[in-house]
Amino acid sequence: MHTTVLITGATGTVGREVVIQLSMLEGDIRVRAGVHSLIKGENLKRLPGVEIVEMDFESQASLHAAFTHADKLFLITPSTKYQVDMSRTLVDEAKKKGVKHIVKLSGIGADEEHGIEMARWHTAIEQYIVASGIPYTFLRSAAFMQNFANYDAESIKNEGKLYQPLGEGRVAYIDVRDIAAVGVEVLTGSGHEGKAYELTGPEALSNYDVAHILSEVTGKQVAYVDVPEEAARQAMLQQQQPAWMADALLELNRMYKAGGSSKVTDTVRQITGRAPRSFRQFAEDYRECFV
Ligand SMILES: NC(=O)c1ccc[n+]([C@@H]2O[C@H](COP(=O)([O-])OP(=O)(O)OC[C@H]3O[C@@H](n4cnc5c(N)ncnc54)[C@H](OP(=O)(O)O)[C@@H]3O)[C@@H](O)[C@H]2O)c1
Repeated sequence: MHTTVLITGATGTVGREVVIQLSMLEGDIRVRAGVHSLIKGENLKRLPGVEIVEMDFESQASLHAAFTHADKLFLITPSTKYQVDMSRTLVDEAKKKGVKHIVKLSGIGADEEHGIEMARWHTAIEQYIVASGIPYTFLRSAAFMQNFANYDAESIKNEGKLYQPLGEGRVAYIDVRDIAAVGVEVLTGSGHEGKAYELTGPEALSNYDVAHILSEVTGKQVAYVDVPEEAARQAMLQQQQPAWMADALLELNRMYKAGGSSKVTDTVRQITGRAPRSFRQFAEDYRECFV
């Protein structure tokens, strides 16, 4: 008997890693990568045993094929307020098709009663999953190390500057490869149903620490520029972020600045048996993005 695992957001930062790591397993796992666009999913096709299926979270009709005979779901939705409605649509379809386990990528703080806006999106989704009655596991992740490669690489590469409004705030950044490793263990192991795991990297770093490590690894000077909040807001608006998204991001950054995501957990090691990657390891592996 094989198990079919559907991964949504499979071309994204975490989804791609989950697909890669699941595809490397031997055994009876069938990996179904849910992609928004078939063209973007093209390179996932080359992975052993991976099937690609197109899906649009905003169209219930597009979900039928993706969920047919899916046993488990790794649920990833994009980082916007619309992810709440998208996730409800996906959970409804999962329920209709008899999915037996949902592993949801969530965020640290999703369990806090008076959390920040971005955490509340995850709270709403988690509550909807619990109410669906489908067995679940929540992976409440800290900020990704890969955010530096996705959003800051240009200025680091071109100007030797890391612009962020975090002051000296320390964040327990995690490498998404470790989130994926936990996800794979949860999907293929037992005893994880009904659990919520807080996932962090091995240490809490300030952006001064991050810039220092990037300088050492790239061999060129990278300086952290602590941007005033209003300037950060203007930059986000110029990059066509809607005002509500800029506000939500600034609130998140304020929480980071105040040390609200500096707690380090040992969960990655407990579940995978391996220590989470350090920021230096991440920087070495992604060096090409920054030079
Ligand atoms: N970044 C962080 O530090 C952090 C920390 C904790 C939790 N999180 C959570 O992580 C999640 C995001 O994960 P990620 O960063 O891996 O995502 P991501 O890289 O932004 O990728 C999002 C994925 O969703 C797909 N997608 C977007 N809209 C879609 C739609 N309408 N229908 C079908 N697919 C759609 C995208 O495909 P296209 O690109 O083709 O549209 C992409 O594959 C969010 O829930 C966020 O709150 C993030």
